Amino acid sequence: MLTREQLLASASEIIDPTYGQSLAELQCIRDLVVKEGQVSATVLLSTNDESYKARLQEEVTKAFERAGAAHVHLRLREMSDYERNEADRKKQASSTAEQTGAAQSQAAPSAATTNVTAPDSGVNIIAIASGKGGVGKSTVTVNLAVALARLGKKVGLVDADIYGFSVPDMMGIEERPQLENNRIIPVERFGVKVISMGFFVEENTPVIWRGPMLGKMLRNFFNEVEWGELDYLLLDLPPGTGDVALDVHQMIPQSKEIIVTTPHATAAFVAARAGAMAIHTNHQILGIVENMSYYSCSDCGKKDYIFGRGGGAKLAEELHAPLLAQIPLGVPDNHIAEPDYSPSVYKADSDTGNMYLDVARRIVELS
Ligand SMILES: Nc1ncnc2c1ncn2[C@@H]1O[C@H](COP(=O)(O)OP(=O)(O)O)[C@@H](O)[C@H]1O
Ligand SMILES: [Mg+2]
Repeated sequence: MLTREQLLASASEIIDPTYGQSLAELQCIRDLVVKEGQVSATVLLSTNDESYKARLQEEVTKAFERAGAAHVHLRLREMSDYERNEADRKKQASSTAEQTGAAQSQAAPSAATTNVTAPDSGVNIIAIASGKGGVGKSTVTVNLAVALARLGKKVGLVDADIYGFSVPDMMGIEERPQLENNRIIPVERFGVKVISMGFFVEENTPVIWRGPMLGKMLRNFFNEVEWGELDYLLLDLPPGTGDVALDVHQMIPQSKEIIVTTPHATAAFVAARAGAMAIHTNHQILGIVENMSYYSCSDCGKKDYIFGRGGGAKLAEELHAPLLAQIPLGVPDNHIAEPDYSPSVYKADSDTGNMYLDVARRIVELS
């Protein structure tokens, strides 16, 4: 069976022109997914030169095909400032190693691992909460995380819905986290580093934890995971105002909050309780996302407010926070046959994908 390692090895001959190092060394190949011979990956570009892009597309596709891929789907994007710095650092490290004659087969683990929950870590932690389940809290968390990454931010996502984890499936993640020096390396997908309880259970078995274990599990997600540098860490909280939500509030007093509701009055009413909890524990509410707001007729464009109207606006008024978006009904137009298939991630150029980009920009302004 074709493995990620084989694919990465196949790209070790391809040299990046700016850094003079291989794509593998520079970790320019991201989000690598292999599924029945179908391969998809993101390739980072050190230059936006069109002819380089075309050449790289061809070279990487050929290398993957030589390794045994039946079909290759690549997304090419320019390096973010952060990724450039990292590449500079690797280049410097390797030239120092050459000078001193030191054999360096692997990049050294970063000296200091950031404690993401420390108030001075510089990581913006945003918990996504809702009054009840089924309103699209996980969908909003996943798409907001992807949108922030699309803006070039370094983003982590903790699926803190320990009983009802759904993030891996929603993002189409099939890999499991690796262990390095006894630390858990989150799985990266669409540029987002993800950790979920779903990675640690067999065959989708439900998890039954006693209260104290829940808090411990969450703490592990923050402390035992090698997050690297992050701008944003999004938490998909369980619905309601239970133990985990309270644990997070106490564990991370600086975390901010986004509340998801549907437009229906009763949904907004229960969501207000989650909001009240945030206010009570002194957490800033960044805003409200109203999901499933309306159905837009694909023929005539007319909006039908089938779940009622005004829930989000009312909640926003009650909690003195902005209404960040009204997301229409409609699942992403992804196809199972696509190698980077993910059931819940809207494409960047879709209407809903653009709405999420707008919310991400607002979040960047607000945080
Ligand atoms: N805007 C939307 N349009 C259509 N379906 C949606 C939308 N948002 C969420 N869904 C679907 O509704 C269900 C519940 O969403 P989910 O994000 O799992 O909610 P929660 O995390 O609040 O329980 C999922 O099947 C999801 O795919
Ligand atoms: Mg959920």
